[in-house]
Amino acid sequence: MKLPKEFIEALRAARKLVVLTGAGISAESGVPTFRGKDGLWKRYRPEELATPFAFKKNPKLVWEWYDWRRSLIAPLEPNEAHRLIAELEERYPEFALITQNIDGLHKKAGSKKILELHGNIWRVRCTNCPYKGEDYRVPLEEVPPKCPECGALLRPDVVWFGEPLDAEILNEAVHHSETCDLMLVIGTSGVVQPAASLPLIAKNAGAKVAEVNPESTPITSIADWSIRSKAVEFAQKLKEHLKD
Ligand code: APR
Repeated sequence: MKLPKEFIEALRAARKLVVLTGAGISAESGVPTFRGKDGLWKRYRPEELATPFAFKKNPKLVWEWYDWRRSLIAPLEPNEAHRLIAELEERYPEFALITQNIDGLHKKAGSKKILELHGNIWRVRCTNCPYKGEDYRVPLEEVPPKCPECGALLRPDVVWFGEPLDAEILNEAVHHSETCDLMLVIGTSGVVQPAASLPLIAKNAGAKVAEVNPESTPITSIADWSIRSKAVEFAQKLKEHLKD
C-alpha cells in the first residue's frame, strides 16, 4: 500500500494537525472493536450494558462487564500507530488528538494532549457525590465498587448511550476540528455521533481529511484520501516518509 503523494505533502505543509481515533487503532493491540466481525457488540447488546438505564437496573451486571473489559485491556500495550501519533504531537506547533476510545492506550503511548470524548475505563466517579478518581484495580475487589468518600455506588467515568458528552471536551474538539489544516481519522466506523461529525466540520472549515481504515465508512465520501489500511501498517509506511 503506497501513501498518496498529495497526502504526504498535505501532512508536511499542515500547521495544525488533528487526529481523530476510534476502536480500530487499538484493534492490533488486542482490544476488541465494537462493530467489527468479532466486535464486542456481537456478544453483548449495548442496550443491556452501556446505558444509564441498564446500570440503574443491574449495576452488578454492568460492572461485571466493565471489570472483564478492564482485565482484558490491562496487560495490553499501545501499538506503533498509537506511538506514531505521540510522535506527531511533537512535530506540529498546533496539534490535537481526539479519541472515542476509553482504553487509555494513547496516554500509555506518550500522547499528552488527549480529548477523550467518551471518557476513560480507568476512571470512576460517584453516583452520589463529586468524587472522581483513577482506579486501575483488576479485578475489582468488590463489584459493584463503592465510593471511598460516601459509600454510594461508583460508576465507570465513561459516556453511555443516551448520555451527553462532557460539553467542554466536545466544544474543544469542535474548535480543533474547525481550525485544523488536516484531520487524520484512524479506525472509526463513523456511525456514532457527535464524534462522527467532526471530520465533516473540519472539511466544511476548509481542512483536508484523510481516513485510515481497512473498510469504507460514512467518512469515506467526504475524505480527500481514504487509505485502505490497518493502523499499524499505515504508521509503519508514514514513518518511512517522515524520516526524509
Ligand atoms: N486498523 C484500522 N482500523 C481498523 C482496524 C485496524 N487494525 N480494525 C478495524 N478497524 C476499523 C473497522 O473497519 C471499523 O470501521 O475500525 C472501526 C471500528 O469501528 P467501531 O467498532 O464502531 O468503533 P468506533 O468507531 O470507535 O465506535 C465509536 O461507539 O460503541 C460506541 O463508545 C463506543 O467509542 C465507541 C463508539
